[in-house]
Amino acid sequence: MIGYYTLRHTALSSLLPNINPDKDKQILDIARLAIAKPFQGNGYGTEIMHTILHMAVQFNERYIVLDAIKDVWHWYKERFRFEHLFDQDLIDDTPVITLLLDLYDKELVEQYYDE
Ligand SMILES: CC(C)(COP(=O)(O)OP(=O)(O)OC[C@H]1O[C@@H](n2cnc3c(N)ncnc32)[C@H](O)[C@@H]1OP(=O)(O)O)[C@@H](O)C(=O)NCCC(=O)NCCS
Repeated sequence: MIGYYTLRHTALSSLLPNINPDKDKQILDIARLAIAKPFQGNGYGTEIMHTILHMAVQFNERYIVLDAIKDVWHWYKERFRFEHLFDQDLIDDTPVITLLLDLYDKELVEQYYDE
């Protein structure tokens, strides 16, 4: 096996506990993503991410969240435009950084809808 990934839904309120309950929603969570060491650096991770992004758009997901290992969070940021959710993650000595990607497509909305 070259690699694997798992997806699940998670409540936005599990990340932002103070959120107004009316605004709470389920968002897509990349629970696991890993490429076996001998196969890393060959584009498989990028390929998996493109598959996930494609599926997320097909299923009308608005946000994708994941906890990135600190060593690789730049990979998600630079390649797929994920943003860190909490500044504190960058300061603290935590092993992971929570990342969020907003899939809202302004251009698409402007092209198809009046407002
Ligand atoms: C992170 C991971 C999923 C990436 O998958 P991959 O198949 O190795 O990555 P790809 O081959 O698609 O991409 C490699 C590219 O990303 C770049 N890259 C690698 N690590 C990077 C980092 N930390 N920051 C920015 N870019 C990075 C490489 O330089 C390479 O660039 P190039 O294509 O221009 O040469 C994989 O390395 C992995 O499973 N690592 C161990 C487990 C892990 O950390 N999982 C993520 C948990 S959040």
